[in-house]
Amino acid sequence: MKKRVLTGDRPTGLLHLGHYVGSLQNRVLLQDQYETFILIADVQALTDHFEHPEILKQNIQEIVADYIAVGIDPAKCAICVQSLIPEIAELAIYYMNLVTIARLQRNPTVKDEIKQKGLKDKLTAGFLTYPVHQAADITVFEAALVPVGKDQLPMIEQTVEIVREFNWLYGNVLVEPVAWVGAFARLPGIDGHAKMSKTLHNAISLSDDPKTVEKKVMRMYTDPTRIHPTDPGHVEGNPVFIYHDLFNPDRAEVDELKTRYKAGKVGDVEVKQKLVKALNQFLNPIRERRSKIAGDEKQINAILMNGTYRARVVAQETLQKVRKAMQIDY
Ligand code: TRP
Repeated sequence: MKKRVLTGDRPTGLLHLGHYVGSLQNRVLLQDQYETFILIADVQALTDHFEHPEILKQNIQEIVADYIAVGIDPAKCAICVQSLIPEIAELAIYYMNLVTIARLQRNPTVKDEIKQKGLKDKLTAGFLTYPVHQAADITVFEAALVPVGKDQLPMIEQTVEIVREFNWLYGNVLVEPVAWVGAFARLPGIDGHAKMSKTLHNAISLSDDPKTVEKKVMRMYTDPTRIHPTDPGHVEGNPVFIYHDLFNPDRAEVDELKTRYKAGKVGDVEVKQKLVKALNQFLNPIRERRSKIAGDEKQINAILMNGTYRARVVAQETLQKVRKAMQIDY
């Protein structure tokens, strides 16, 4: 039997290049070796978007188009919708007893989010406990491996704690997951911020057209210490070169640009124009695959229904085991 892998995304925006290098690329490789599930976490997205549920529906459609565009194969990989798998919610309720409020308040990622979103007095029980829900996402599929970015490590730690507590109390039922952090987990934004993120408005989406990519690259942050093209520039940590390294397959061109940049013999404009070309070449096949499915609700819904059906079969099996172990299988 193949080992199971689970990944998840909140359907709150278009997927971008940061998602590609941090996770999508990996998923495409993993789908051949593992039984993989991709969970579209709409229930989790509601924990901070409950006042705007309408954005989720459209974004679920877009996110599936993005998956197919990068080469995720729905025949190999079950793409499923969290809210259509009520077993996850049921499991999360059982887990609530195994986690203290104090423990939830220590979660560094949740803490950051509370600060960032200025939640303070507005912190809901739903938001504070989403890591418990996420533990249910992972364990309902008996996932052995969870490929994630660094910011998700506290969620996996929380999951492991719940699994151990559950297995100690009720018998060995749950599978303990292992987090798998990709080699290149984080792509800086076009503004030089450490993380590309839709909410920071510094992302290049996989669905951006060539003109949009050009506009974004031309206003990209480069080396702040360099004022004139004749000043010697820094290549390390310079977002334009980080992108060149990742997306420009012409190594000789990149090396030559770096040499000239360090010597003060090339302007930002040329470096950026070459990056525009490389990025558009990288995105072209993605755009082409995307155009075949984007907007085709029928085809997208069929993928989701099929994936969710397969996922639910697994979820129901797990819940049966859980209820039996907890002696609530009346
Ligand atoms: N919390 C993840 C994020 O914000 C999304 C997610 C939900 C997830 N459920 C998951 C990730 C299960 C991995 C496993 O990106």
